[in-house]
Amino acid sequence: MLLEVKNLNVFYNDKHVLKDVNFEVDEKEIFSIIGESGSGKSTIAKAIMGLIKYDGIVHYKGEDIFMIFQDPGNYLDPLFKVYNQIKMVKEVVKSSKGFDVDKAISLVGLSQEELKKKYPHELSGGQKQRVMIAMSLARGSSLVIADEPTSSLDVLVQKDVLCAFKNMKKYFSLIVITHDINVVYHIADRVMVLKDGVVQEISKKDDFFKSPKSEYGKKLLESFY
Ligand SMILES: Nc1ncnc2c1ncn2[C@@H]1O[C@H](COP(=O)(O)OP(=O)(O)O)[C@@H](O)[C@H]1O
Ligand SMILES: [Mg+2]
Repeated sequence: MLLEVKNLNVFYNDKHVLKDVNFEVDEKEIFSIIGESGSGKSTIAKAIMGLIKYDGIVHYKGEDIFMIFQDPGNYLDPLFKVYNQIKMVKEVVKSSKGFDVDKAISLVGLSQEELKKKYPHELSGGQKQRVMIAMSLARGSSLVIADEPTSSLDVLVQKDVLCAFKNMKKYFSLIVITHDINVVYHIADRVMVLKDGVVQEISKKDDFFKSPKSEYGKKLLESFY
């Protein structure tokens, strides 16, 4: 087990947004969290990253967690060439575990020559998400949390980027947060269903698509095509 979350509770002012959330993530596992907007998905990510106050236990065994957001444009600096930014992100961890920058770039199917010339705004949304994946490989992160990583991409590119994530499974564990049941279908090993801050079920992907355990899980499956 790489990550253990036990009795996680989060309050924003008086609002109880996560209610006794419990789950574990294994090594080299793709764990998905699905729920509608406002259900508390991003709050789980923020608690794991230590960005907010919470009650409960978040126990992490690895060395580095890397977070990927819906719009990587907010994370990449518009003033620096993309290649240099991958280099910088590697340098700040000072870990020898990660891949060489050029290797990380080739693993996600991008060209180092191109990234040496280009600024973030010269890349497509799909390319930018690949850059983020390359950053996590260069850092040697053992856990990547991707919060709605494909929600702002065109449908065809979405599948492409999901594939890129899936291909990285041998290098890190992934928590993929989504409101889209199709994302779960395409890449997850297991799925946790969240509603109003309460875990409805945690199931193996195949079991979930055969017969969801929770009423809300059944409802979500109705939007699957
Ligand atoms: N910084 C904040 N202050 C107050 N309420 C917040 C804050 N961030 C999120 N919330 C509220 O917490 C709930 C869960 O939000 P969030 O974790 O972002 O949900 P999701 O990612 O599933 O859309 C929502 O009701 C949201 O309005
Ligand atoms: Mg969110």
